[in-house]
Amino acid sequence: MSRRALIAGNWKMYGLAAALMELDALKAALAAAPATGDVAICPPATLLAQAAWKLKGAPILLGGQDCHTAGEGAHTGDLSAAMLADAGASLVIVGHSERRRDHGETDALVRAKADAALRAGLTPIVCVGETIEQRRAGQAEATVGAQIAGSLPAEGELVVAYEPVWAIGTGLTASTDEIAAMHGFIRSTLGPRAAATRILYGGSVKPQNAGEILALDEVDGALVGGASLKAADFSAIIRALK
Ligand code: PGA
Repeated sequence: MSRRALIAGNWKMYGLAAALMELDALKAALAAAPATGDVAICPPATLLAQAAWKLKGAPILLGGQDCHTAGEGAHTGDLSAAMLADAGASLVIVGHSERRRDHGETDALVRAKADAALRAGLTPIVCVGETIEQRRAGQAEATVGAQIAGSLPAEGELVVAYEPVWAIGTGLTASTDEIAAMHGFIRSTLGPRAAATRILYGGSVKPQNAGEILALDEVDGALVGGASLKAADFSAIIRALK
C-alpha cells in the first residue's frame, strides 16, 4: 500500500495573531507549487478558529497540539478533542515529548487522549522517542517499543511521529541510518495496521536535511517544529517531498 506523505508543522507555544500572515504566505506557496502530500499546521489553540477561516478551501489541514481525554467536563484550562474539531482541526498531536516532560504524561494517558481524538473524529499524531541517555544505553528500541505498545489505541486510523528527544529543537538530527532503522522497527511493531499507518520523523527537520530524510523508505513525512514557523522554510520542506 502506498501511503500519502504528511508534512505537519507544530508551532508549539509560539504565535500571536500576527503569525497568521505566515499562513497566507504558505497558502500562496502551495498554490504556486502544489504539495505532493498532505500538509498540516498545528498552531496554538488560540489561533485555530482564525486559521480555519483563513485557510478555507486551501489544501492545508489544521491540528491541535494536545487534547483532554474527556469529551467535556469540569477541567479548567483544558480543551476537548471535540472543541478542536469544532474550531477547524482534523488532527491533533498527542504525547509530544514536551508534554510527557512538562506535564508528566504517561503512555496510558497518551493512549486515552488518542482514543478521545478518534471519538471526536480527529486523527491523532502519537509521538514517541527516546532520550539521549536511553540511546547511549542501547535502550532506544526498547523505549520506543514500550511507548508504541502503551500509547497507541487498539484501533482507529492514526499517525505515529518518531521524535528522538535529543534531536528536538537542538539542531541535531538523527542520522539517516538511525532514522531508517527506527522507522523500520516501529513499522514492525504495528501489526495489522502497519501498511496503512504513516510514520513521521521529527527533530530539527530543516530545508537543508528534509530531502534525504523524506527519501527514506519507511519515512512517510515529517513533524516540524522550529522550521514550520516561517512559511518560506516550511514550504521548502514540503517541496522536498518527491
Ligand atoms: P523541531 O521540533 O523541528 O524544532 O526540532 C520538532 C517537534 O518537536 O515536533
